Amino acid sequence: MTAAGFVRVCALSELEEDTPRRVELEGTPVSVVRTDDEVFAIHDICSHANVSLSEGEVEDCTIECWLHGSRFDLRTGKPSGLPATRPVPVYPVKIEGDDVLVSVTQES
Ligand code: FES
Repeated sequence: MTAAGFVRVCALSELEEDTPRRVELEGTPVSVVRTDDEVFAIHDICSHANVSLSEGEVEDCTIECWLHGSRFDLRTGKPSGLPATRPVPVYPVKIEGDDVLVSVTQES
């Protein structure tokens, strides 16, 4: 772990475009998503019920909860439609060479 709390989660080359990867960081489930050549880290549990967001589809920089269809913005964690009304946390991501680093100690 670095001083700022960033932890390596995987290699950038391991992330397939629009295919979320679930990781666990310090007990926190996180979905890491590469889309449009950017990488985002979003809390992996829907704010509506206990559903893993990494099992949903990625489109237009959002991730869909497969159970009831709310979409969450990967940049802000905000839902764009019901039934979810509360955002899910998003976390800062750093790319260093081929390493993807995420910090769950500070929400972005
Ligand atoms: S559990 Fe995710 S929208 Fe209902």
